[in-house]
Amino acid sequence: MFTADDLMFRPGLMKGHRILVTGGGTGLGKEMAEALLMLGAEVIICGRRGGVLEETAKELMDAHGGKVIPVACDIRVPEAIHDMMDEAWAGGPLTGLVNNAAGNFISRTEDLSTRGFDAIANIVFRGSFFVTLEAGKRWIASGTGGSVVSILTTWVWNGGPFTVPSAMSKAGLNVMTQSLAVEWAGKGIRFNAIAPGPFPTEGMSARLNPGAARDDRSSPGNPMGRVGDMRELANLAVYLLHPLSQYVNGQTIAIDGGAHLAGGGGFAGLRSWTDEQWEAARNAIKATNEADRAKRTV
Ligand code: HXC
Ligand code: NAP
Repeated sequence: MFTADDLMFRPGLMKGHRILVTGGGTGLGKEMAEALLMLGAEVIICGRRGGVLEETAKELMDAHGGKVIPVACDIRVPEAIHDMMDEAWAGGPLTGLVNNAAGNFISRTEDLSTRGFDAIANIVFRGSFFVTLEAGKRWIASGTGGSVVSILTTWVWNGGPFTVPSAMSKAGLNVMTQSLAVEWAGKGIRFNAIAPGPFPTEGMSARLNPGAARDDRSSPGNPMGRVGDMRELANLAVYLLHPLSQYVNGQTIAIDGGAHLAGGGGFAGLRSWTDEQWEAARNAIKATNEADRAKRTV
C-alpha cells in the first residue's frame, strides 16, 4: 500500500475525476488505481475475475477511503464493454481511461496456435480499442472530453521476440495513441501511453519468467541495475491523466531506466567492462594503430 509520501502530488489533486482502469484488480492497474484513489478520484476497475476485483476495491477503500467501483467485464466482448460503460457512466461522465488490461505469455512463435495468438490480440489489440471507442463516443456525445493513457511496453520500438502477439498488439495501440491524439484533440480527448520496463507483478512473472524468484529487485542488464518501482509508474500515470498535462498529447513515455536505449547500440554489453578491460582494449587498439602506421608509405 502507498502512503502520502509515495506520491509527488498534493492531496485532493484528482478530486472530481472519475477514471476507469482496465485490469485494475491486480498488478500495475491496482497500483495506479490506488494512487488515483488516494488523490481523490473515484476509480472504476474491471477484469474478468469478479472476486479479485471485489477484494481489491475493498482493500483500497479500507486503506484510503473514497470510492472504488468493481465491474466484472471481459473486454474481448464488445457488448460487455458497452454494459460496463453504462455502469461506469451511471455516476457521471468518466474523465479518464487507463488501458491497462492485457494478456501475455512467452512462446516460440512457431509454437503459437491461432487461438494462442487470438488469446493475446483479442484482449490487448481489439479489447483496448473497443474500450477506447466506447469511451470516446460517450465523450464526444457529452462534450466533456477525457484523457486516455494506454499501458504499452518498450517493445513497440524494438520488437518483442518470443512475445510477438503482445508486441504486435501493443504496437497497434501505440499507433492508435498517435492517430486519435490528432483526430480527437479538437473534441477534448487526448491520448498518451506509458511504456514500462520490468515492474515485476504476479501476472507478468508467472507468464514471462515462469519459475523465477519474484522478489529480486535487481536487473543486471538494466542501466540502473534494477527493476521499476511502482511509485514511479503511478506518479507518471497521475501526471498524464491530470488536465495540467493537457498539452502533452500523442506521446509514449518509456519508464524503464533507459533499458530500451541500451539495447539499441551494438556495444551495449560493454557497460559491464572494468577499468582494466578498457585499459587493455585501449592498448590493443593503439598497438594495431602503431603497427599500421609503421607500414604507411605516404
Ligand atoms: C503457447 C499458449 C500458452 C503458452 C496459452 N496458450 N498459454 N500457447 N504457450 N504459454 C494458448 C492455449 O494453448 C490456447 O490455444 C490459447 O492460448 C488460449 O488459452 P486459454 O488458457 O484458453 O486462454 P484464456 O483463458 O483466454 O487466457 C488468456 C491468456 C492468459 C492470455 C492465455 O495468460 C491470461 O488470462 N492472461 C491475463 C494476465 C496476463 O497475461 N498478465 C501478464 C501481462 S504482462 P489452443 O490452440 O491450445 O486452444 C505483460 C508484460 C509486458 O504484458 C512487458 C514486460 C516487460
Ligand atoms: P496482471 O496483473 O496480470 O494484469 C493484467 C490485468 O488484465 C489483470 O487484472 C486481468 O484481470 C486483466 N485482464 C486480462 N484479460 C482481460 C480481459 N479479457 N478483460 C478484462 N480484463 C482483463 O499484469 P501486469 O504486470 O500488472 O500488467 C498490467 C499492464 O502492464 C499490461 O498492459 C502489461 O502488458 C503492462 N506491462 C507490464 C509490465 C510489467 O513488468 N509488469 C511491463 C510492461 C508492460 P483478469 O484476469 O481478472 O481478467
